Amino acid sequence: MAIDSLLAMRDQIPALRKVNYLNSGWSGPSPLRVVDRVVDYLRWEAEEGPTAPHVLARARTLHEEVRLAVAATFNAQPDEIVTTANTTEGINLVLNGLPWVAGDEALTYTFEHHSVIVPLYHLRERMKIRVRFVRLEVDDRPETIVAKFEAAMTDATRLLALSHISYSTGLRLPIEAICAMAHARGAQVLVDGAQTAGHIVLDLAATGADYYAFTGHKWLLGPDGAGALFVRRDRMPHLQPTAVSIHAAASFDVEGAYVPKTGSPDKFQLTTVNAGIFHGFLEALAIYRDVGPAAIEARTRQLGLLLRSKLETIPGVTIFSPSHEETASGLVSFRVGALPAREVVDRLWERGRIVVRAVDAPSVVRAACHYFNTEDDLEALVAEIAALA
Ligand SMILES: Cc1ncc(COP(=O)(O)O)c(C=O)c1O
Repeated sequence: MAIDSLLAMRDQIPALRKVNYLNSGWSGPSPLRVVDRVVDYLRWEAEEGPTAPHVLARARTLHEEVRLAVAATFNAQPDEIVTTANTTEGINLVLNGLPWVAGDEALTYTFEHHSVIVPLYHLRERMKIRVRFVRLEVDDRPETIVAKFEAAMTDATRLLALSHISYSTGLRLPIEAICAMAHARGAQVLVDGAQTAGHIVLDLAATGADYYAFTGHKWLLGPDGAGALFVRRDRMPHLQPTAVSIHAAASFDVEGAYVPKTGSPDKFQLTTVNAGIFHGFLEALAIYRDVGPAAIEARTRQLGLLLRSKLETIPGVTIFSPSHEETASGLVSFRVGALPAREVVDRLWERGRIVVRAVDAPSVVRAACHYFNTEDDLEALVAEIAALA
């Protein structure tokens, strides 16, 4: 798709009229169509009566509709998709649903997000497992990354839990090769896809991942509160839900009989959800498919590398993102002299209505380049950084 078609979406994203938005890695600005779909559904539900038969009939098929759309968008089977509120929920469902025994080991890496680290530490306290970190560098090549993970594996390693794209550096991991290596060593892989769904072309079957958690509210530009977890079909029966509702029961009675569901993603589903939010998620997925995953991946990577090359020329700026095309993404992190990252973020907002974020460890400023961003957006950021530096 031509750049003009990508940029045509700008008119449909109201936030872009007011701000230079470079923070879709935290939360993406929704197109009006997404917001309208949420609001229209909620209004319809309120006007018709939430438990009127025709409203209930629509609500009953909602999860199935979302599973179909997620599966079609990211190449999975609908019965491999669990609907969630966000990435962190999916990560927790997997970590707490596996049959750990004391002494088992989970492996992650040093640029990992706290949504992986804290649930792993929680598990360590609860189940007496070991949590180990692989030290990666932003300029590690794909083969080096795989080799580092392989070297860290032991006979006790049961799971690799890792982000496909690191939130703090934008480093893209060779996930297919990591999954193949882990499986050859008898370990499973949980991928945190918070920074990938909507950003790079995502083929869930091809990744080889056993579990893949992501959200709709970041790169997919959906509303807050809707995401999904992929559980490979052969893993589904073995992943235990830790919180259940009637949806986990194949049958039960008040005499003690209970037959749980095993192979169905229903077993993770709790009770009432905000259906409007999931309709917004469906709209966001439809827009994403229309705009074109391959074009979005190419554009975000190109903008990321462009921003990187511009920042590199400013004395005093240090880059913390990959320079190699195969590991680069739309996320670019940097430091401006000795200025605290949070101060840079505040100043960019005050001086230019530029929205970026600070990351604490490592302490960096992070810009997220999405397909709707323009070269002018990047120029404006670079000019302000040059002035600050
Ligand atoms: C790598 C990574 N994992 C997890 C999360 C948490 O995402 P969510 O709010 O969808 O749980 C984020 C959010 O920034 C992230 O970047």
